[in-house]
This record gives sequence, structure tokens and C-alpha cells, in this order.
Amino acid sequence: MSDTKRPDGIIIALDGPAGSGKSSTAKAVARCLGYRHLDSGAFYRAITYAALHAGIQPDGWAQLTHDELDRMDVHGKPGETGYTMTVAGEDVSLQIRTPEVNAHVSRMAAVPAVREWLMDALRESGARGGLVADGRDIGTVVFPDAELKAYLIADAEERARRRLLEMGVTGLSAEDVRAEAARLQGRDALDSGRETAPLRQADDAVVIDTTSLTFDEQVERIVALARERGGVDRSEEIP
Ligand code: CDP
Repeated sequence: MSDTKRPDGIIIALDGPAGSGKSSTAKAVARCLGYRHLDSGAFYRAITYAALHAGIQPDGWAQLTHDELDRMDVHGKPGETGYTMTVAGEDVSLQIRTPEVNAHVSRMAAVPAVREWLMDALRESGARGGLVADGRDIGTVVFPDAELKAYLIADAEERARRRLLEMGVTGLSAEDVRAEAARLQGRDALDSGRETAPLRQADDAVVIDTTSLTFDEQVERIVALARERGGVDRSEEIP
């Protein structure tokens, strides 16, 4: 039985800079609570991939219309635990994580028409609650009434180290880490400096610095806060 106004439970919004661990944390928090995970960055990544794949040059992205975006056929297919990104019906989960998409996604995400076009789909996913959504503007714009908002931060080099390990890079040199930190900070600058829905901490967000936390510690901290805010554990309902 739910003790919130949403039938499936509360909404948890996790925002923060690039590589702060939002997506993996959100996924694990969702698993603990039996909620669904919405990785909003994956939607921006899939649109970026679709545009690059269709040969639409970055210089033209600011002029994209809603009809053109519709024709790109980008969807988040809802599943039991999250969403699978598809372009023209094809699963693009791997293609949206390439260095090429990393390098271009912030430019696509700064286009107001793109953000507007996505908004309904993102909000629709939270209509029943029971959602852990992560991104840049989840607590400020997409779900400003989320019951729990957390803003995850971490030292840039630590974020870079984690991102490289996640990408399977082994034998990390100090130079690799510095170069990746510069790429992450470049994306942060674009995401924070844009006019529409910039990366910003919501006034009512709990700030969690994960630099010296283990992954399990950061997950536990958010799950504990979620329970305090009325997050009902649905995991036992899932067979
Ligand atoms: O996982 P990582 O921190 O690298 O980024 P992501 O969450 O996959 O997001 C990729 C990019 O999408 C970000 O750098 C932003 O430009 C954009 N984004 C956004 O503008 N708003 C969101 N709610 C989520 C992502």
C-alpha cells in the first residue's frame, strides 16, 4: 500500500555533473526499492546518435523542428526496471555511449526545441510515481515536485577515473585521468552555461559528495532518505 499521493510510490530526482555516478546510483536505488529507473541523459544521447547517424550536421541542430525529431524515431521502450533506447526500432544502448556521442550530446541538449520535445515523454514516465530519474534538470524542471531530490557531486579527477574504469580502460595513467577530467568539465561548462534548463542544484536538494563514498554507501544513503520521505518498498512485490 502506498502512503504517497502517487499510486506506485515517490519520485526520486538525482541530478549532478557528468560522471558523478547518477545513473549507476539511480539504477541501484531503483532496484532496492522496486522502482523504475529513468536515465534522462540516455534520451539526449539517443537523439544525438540518431542525428549523427542520419548525417544531420551539428550546425543545423538548433533549427531542428518537432516534425524532424518525430521522424528520427527515437523512443525509450519501458521495461520492468527501466527504459531501453531505440532508434528506428533498433536497440542503441551501446551506440549512445561512444566518445563521439559524448563529445556532441551537450550541444544537442542545449537546443530548446529538443528539450521541449522530450518533456512530455519524460513527465509521462513519472505519472504513477515509483521512479528514480537522473539527469541535469530533473529536480528543477522535469519533476520539480519530486519527493526526494539529491544532487551528486564528486571531485573531477575521481569522476574521470570512475568513468574510464566503467569504459573498461585498464592501466590508467595520470595523463589519461587528466584528459578525461577535462572532457567532463568541458561538458559541465556547456550544461551549466546554457540558457534552457541548465545544470543547477535545486534549492531543496540534498547534496551528496561521493568523492570518498563507496558505491554501496551512496546507494544506501539515498535509499534511507527515500524511506524517510515515504518511499514504499515495492521490491518484495516483484517476483
Ligand atoms: O552519464 P553522464 O554524466 O556522462 O551524462 P548523461 O547523464 O548520460 O547525460 C549526457 C548529456 O545529456 C549531458 O551532458 C547533458 O548535456 C544532457 N542532459 C541534459 O541536458 N539534461 C538531462 N536531464 C540529462 C542529460
